[in-house]
Amino acid sequence: MTWDVRATKDLEEFVDAVGAISHYFGSERNLERAERFTKVLPLERMHAAFDGDRIVGGAGAFPFQLTVPGGPVSCGGVTVVGVLPTHRRRGVLTAMMRTQLEDIRARGEPIAALWASEEVIYRRFGYGLASFVGEIELASSFTALRQAPDPTATARLITLEDARTLVPPIYDRVRAVTPGMFGRTDDWWELRTLDDPPERRQGGGVKNALLLELDGKPAGYALYRLYPKFEQGSAAGHLEVIEAFADGPIGTRELWRVLLDMDWKATLKADLLPIDHPLQHQLSYPRRMRMRIGDGLWVRLVDVGAALSARAYSGDGPVVLEVEDSFLPENAGRWRILGGAAERSEDDADLALDVGELGAAYLGGFTFAELVRAGVVRELKEGGAARADAVFLTAAPKPWCHEIF
Ligand SMILES: CC(C)(COP(=O)(O)OP(=O)(O)OC[C@H]1O[C@@H](n2cnc3c(N)ncnc32)[C@H](O)[C@@H]1OP(=O)(O)O)[C@@H](O)C(=O)NCCC(=O)NCCS
Repeated sequence: MTWDVRATKDLEEFVDAVGAISHYFGSERNLERAERFTKVLPLERMHAAFDGDRIVGGAGAFPFQLTVPGGPVSCGGVTVVGVLPTHRRRGVLTAMMRTQLEDIRARGEPIAALWASEEVIYRRFGYGLASFVGEIELASSFTALRQAPDPTATARLITLEDARTLVPPIYDRVRAVTPGMFGRTDDWWELRTLDDPPERRQGGGVKNALLLELDGKPAGYALYRLYPKFEQGSAAGHLEVIEAFADGPIGTRELWRVLLDMDWKATLKADLLPIDHPLQHQLSYPRRMRMRIGDGLWVRLVDVGAALSARAYSGDGPVVLEVEDSFLPENAGRWRILGGAAERSEDDADLALDVGELGAAYLGGFTFAELVRAGVVRELKEGGAARADAVFLTAAPKPWCHEIF
C-alpha cells in the first residue's frame, strides 16, 4: 500500500497531523495550542500521511542550526512523529520518513537529528546513535566539590522575564562550541524554555532561574524546579535541574555549587547531561552521581557530501569511506575527505560503513575505532580507523543535546 504524504496546508491539517503523536500522550485536540506550536514548527515543516481524506500520521522537522565540530549546520530537527494505532505497521512511518528526508535535503539541510521514543525505530531510515546522555541522582550528603569556591562568584535569582534577556547570550556562547546543541529562536525561548504552565509542573514547584556571575559579569545560569517533601520530619524532596550552562570550568563549578548546596532536598536530579560533564571531575564523590547512560541524539546524514564538507576536521586526510545507504541510495558510494572537503572518489576505501554509523561518528561522540571494535564498521585497509579518527577527532567536547525535542 502506498500512502499520500505531503506538508500540511492549514491549521486544521496541522493539528490533525500532530494529533497522531498527541493520541499517545493522551492530549486533547487544541487549535490554540497548535497555533502557538506553528511559531516554532511552521506548517510547511509538518508532514501528514493521508488515508483517503483522513490524516493518519504526522512527522515534523524544526528548522534548526545544530552545532557540529566547527560550528552550526542547518539541520532538520525531527519531531512529533506518530501514526494512529489504527494504521500502524502498514508502512505509514516509512512513507513519511522518505518524504520528510527528501524535503530536508531539498531545503539544503545536510543533516537531520532526532530523539527516539524507542531506540529500535530509526536505524532503518539511516539514523545513527550520535551521543549518549546521562541522568544523575545525587544524595545531599555527597554534594561536596573538590575545589574551594571562587571568591568572585555571586549568584542571584532572576525572574523568568529577566531570564529572557540575560540567559540567551550565555546559552549561545556555550552552544557555539558544543556539538549537539541547537539555536533557540525568541519564540522557542518564550514558548518552550521559559514557559511554565502549571499543568506541566508534574507535582513540582514553579520554574526558577538562577544567574551566576563572575566578577559581576553573567557567566552561567540554571533553570530548576523544587519538589519539596518531608518524611518523618526530614527533607525527602528533590531539586530537578532543568538545564544549567556556564562559560567555562569555574562558572560551571560555581553554578553547580549553588544547586548542590541548596537546602531542603534529599537529592539533586538532572538528566540530559553529557557523559563527560565537568562534574565528573569536580565532585568529591563522582560515583555517588550514579549516572545512568542512555541514547541521546540520533543523527542522519541526509546529503553525505554536503554534511561531511560542513564540519571541521583536525587532520587533512585523505581518508576514504565506502558508504552504504539503502534508504537514500543517492548517498551511497565512496567519499574522500581531503583538506576539510568531501567529494566522490575512485580511490581504495579505508573503511566501509552504513550511513547510520557515519552519523554516529559525525558529532564526535564515537570514534571509528570504537565502531570497528563493535563490528559495525569494517576496516578495508590496515590502520583505516586510526587514520579516519586522526582526521575526524577534534578538541570539541562530547556531543551534548540538552533538550528532548
Ligand atoms: C513508531 C511508529 C511511528 C511506527 O509507525 P508505523 O507506521 O507503524 O511504522 P512502519 O509500518 O512504517 O514500520 C516500518 C518498520 O519499522 C518497524 N517498526 C516501526 N515501529 C517500531 C517499533 N516501535 N518497534 C519495533 N519495530 C518498529 C516495523 O515493524 C516495520 O518493520 P518491517 O519493515 O521489517 O516490517 C508508530 O508505531 C507510533 O506512532 N508509535 C507511537 C508514537 C511513537 O513512538 N512515535 C515515535 C516518536 S520518536
